[in-house]
Amino acid sequence: MEPLKKSARTGKEKQQKIFQAPKGMHDILGQDALLFDDLRSVAGAFADSYGYQYIELPVLEDRELFVRSVGVGTDIVDKEMYVVRTQGGDALALRPEFTAGIVRAYIQNGMQNLPQPVKAWTFGPAFRHDNPQAGRYRQFWQADFEFFGADHPIADAEVIQFAVKLSEGFGIPDVCVYINTIGCAECRGQYRKALKAYYRSKSRKLCSDCKRRLKTNPLRLLDCKNETCVMIRKNAPETLEYLCKDCSDHFRKVLGFLDDAKIGYFLDPYLVRGLDYYNRTVFELKSGNQRRQESAETDGFEQNAPAREPLSFGGGGRYDYLMKLLGGQDTPAVGFALGVDRMVDLAREERAKAFKTGPNVYLVQIGDAARMQALRLIEELRTHGIAARFDLSRDSLKAQLRNADREQSAYALIIGQKEVLDNAVILRDMQTGIQESVLMHKLLETLAARLKQKHKTR
Ligand code: HAM
Repeated sequence: MEPLKKSARTGKEKQQKIFQAPKGMHDILGQDALLFDDLRSVAGAFADSYGYQYIELPVLEDRELFVRSVGVGTDIVDKEMYVVRTQGGDALALRPEFTAGIVRAYIQNGMQNLPQPVKAWTFGPAFRHDNPQAGRYRQFWQADFEFFGADHPIADAEVIQFAVKLSEGFGIPDVCVYINTIGCAECRGQYRKALKAYYRSKSRKLCSDCKRRLKTNPLRLLDCKNETCVMIRKNAPETLEYLCKDCSDHFRKVLGFLDDAKIGYFLDPYLVRGLDYYNRTVFELKSGNQRRQESAETDGFEQNAPAREPLSFGGGGRYDYLMKLLGGQDTPAVGFALGVDRMVDLAREERAKAFKTGPNVYLVQIGDAARMQALRLIEELRTHGIAARFDLSRDSLKAQLRNADREQSAYALIIGQKEVLDNAVILRDMQTGIQESVLMHKLLETLAARLKQKHKTR
């Protein structure tokens, strides 16, 4: 039942609806909001150094764009898209991911005429009408990176190295790469046949979704999370056994480059990813800490088969056919997306330390004349890069000093009537309680020196 509240204002029995965020969607507040912002900055800095340019995309795209690229028979297209009918009768979808939109933008904006390769990245919310649970939301954020115009296996290795280094740079503990290859259009045909033959013999035991997948999109049988289907998967044919020579060489080289770059990985023969546009290399990222924790709760830690698989915080792969499929020129591509919500969950403890004790100052004022001084001072501090906290509506010295304490401010700057007359400020070290009077024209210089000293001794 929806929570109801009586209206206190009218005193009548009128009942008000208490609004909640839609199911599976959440507000991002306080420290998490800082961490989201922080991840965006870290991603931006890494994107700069690896040569990715930022692009911003519409939240809505033609529904058909995702049907064609992500594919019929995938959970995203069959069950999870938020489809909107416009007044004009168009069917649009809230983006369930970014790759299709970036490819659409590449074609529409003639990016094939730019010097190749082209690298683009973006950051924002995506939407999937999934079953909400821990780490799985209906609105979630992704940082997405796409690399167009390079078919060499070094591009796959570069993208994986980039994904790992960025994740480590944000503080994800013990980043693990899970990798596989799903071959090309030719060798995948053989694999699909073998997969169908295997699953047909077990079809009575499959879940209803997999019975349908067996007919429409057999590769998606390997994505199923149903317990019985996961058990059946254990003896299914592996993609590696069906690769053509070119795909096999490509994969061997990718692994060789990763070895050279000292990027560790687990070979996962059943990793096929839940989207249809991939060919050859596919990969996912998980945190080893999380993996060990979850395994310890169940059956112990095995190298290649953890008892209960944790959610991956990132994933990607090669998709050489998508550009042509969407009407562009044949262009090889490889990319990945990081799940921002999941990364913030994983790195919260480590990353949050950075926000705990930034030396800042708290402005305390007593009386209207001091308030005027304070207002001027806030701007002066800001232009000199000093973060000030304040609550100018308060009068009580005690309450303001309590706030300074809560904010973990390094110094309180106290302006009372006497200070206004003397054109001075009391500088109080919040840790030691020692106070000194500083003339206003000396304040910035004194404060900068004191804050520098604090930084050194932290
Ligand atoms: P994806 O594996 O569907 O790939 O999503 C990438 C990441 O987004 C996941 O690893 C996860 O961290 C996060 N994510 C996905 N769904 C949810 C959800 N419901 N709640 C919270 N987080 C979620 C793609 O989207 C591809 N477009 C990646 C790619 C880019 N491939 C090539 N280029």
